Amino acid sequence: MTSATLLFLVLILLSVPDVKSSESLFKLKCQPAVGVIGQTTHISCSIEFYTKPKPVVINTVALTRSGEKKSCFAIRPFENKRIGDSRFEVEKEPSLQLHNTAISDEGEYRYYIRTNLGQEQVRFTINVTAKYSNPIITSVQKEIVNDGAADLYCSASGGYPAGTIHWFDQSNTNWTKSATLQSTQGNDGLFSLSSKLSFQKIDSLWAPFRCVVLNNRYEEEGGTTSTLEIKDNWDNPPSSSSTVNNGIAGVVVIGSLIVGLLIVLLFKRRRNQHIPPTSDGTVKNNIAPCVVFIGSVIVGVLTAVLFKQRRDQRK
Ligand SMILES: *[C@@H]1O[C@H](CO)[C@@H](O)[C@H](O)[C@H]1NC(C)=O
Ligand SMILES: *[C@@H]1O[C@H](CO)[C@@H](O)[C@H](O)[C@H]1NC(C)=O
Repeated sequence: MTSATLLFLVLILLSVPDVKSSESLFKLKCQPAVGVIGQTTHISCSIEFYTKPKPVVINTVALTRSGEKKSCFAIRPFENKRIGDSRFEVEKEPSLQLHNTAISDEGEYRYYIRTNLGQEQVRFTINVTAKYSNPIITSVQKEIVNDGAADLYCSASGGYPAGTIHWFDQSNTNWTKSATLQSTQGNDGLFSLSSKLSFQKIDSLWAPFRCVVLNNRYEEEGGTTSTLEIKDNWDNPPSSSSTVNNGIAGVVVIGSLIVGLLIVLLFKRRRNQHIPPTSDGTVKNNIAPCVVFIGSVIVGVLTAVLFKQRRDQRK
């Protein structure tokens, strides 16, 4: 590459802003390009005639980043001369391709061509993407216990641009609003996402949890279902066994009442058989069943209270 060629190309590029498409017989069109990091990006361009199509011969192409004067790629096919980034190529005139796409290639470009029928230029963008790794779910707690605290993390890395993470439980309830997302960009430009979902009291019925990674267009890129085990702690029985305890307490209270009532009836009958009773006996006969009855009720209530206390202690 001689410096004369470089000068020539620089002169071409400096003249680019003067190009007026209205003077051309044709229009150069390019689609916005979306590339994947490390892969080849195709920049699809075409020539559209305003009038009857004629054979076009391209003498020069030059690609310049918006805001820059020097082109990042230029070629004059007939002179076998090229400058700039060797990753660019004319794929099939006037389409281009970019090998080994990098994040730094993202941006707006000005594409200029000079032909036997005149010159034309167009602007297009290159966007770059990278797919996130499949997410991984971890927890802060070594062991997650039902009704206990739990902090779940879902992490994915190596993606571009910044994406997001959504959470769902076993019944597909969306927990995303309760989660906080942290997005960090590494030196390589790639993003790492980490979403934290915290529970003060987790319910084993919600498991397994699923987290989903979405790219910046909200398209799902991957998902993981948690394999975390939520233990039923025996000091902390699930609600069904509390119901059983409530039932037992109830049976004890009602049983005590029935026993009390039966004793009262028995005393009454015995009193009626002893006619005529002494006034002293009447008082005795009335007090004894009452004491027994009240005693039974107290025993029943105490038993119920005891059951409830033991159950509450387990919570
Ligand atoms: C595409 O790239 C342009 C230029 O860098 C940028 O402004 C835009 O946000 C990108 N679009 C998407 C969807 O990432
Ligand atoms: C889940 O919730 C998030 C945040 O509110 C929302 O952006 C997302 O669209 C929801 N996803 C579904 C599938 O409903």
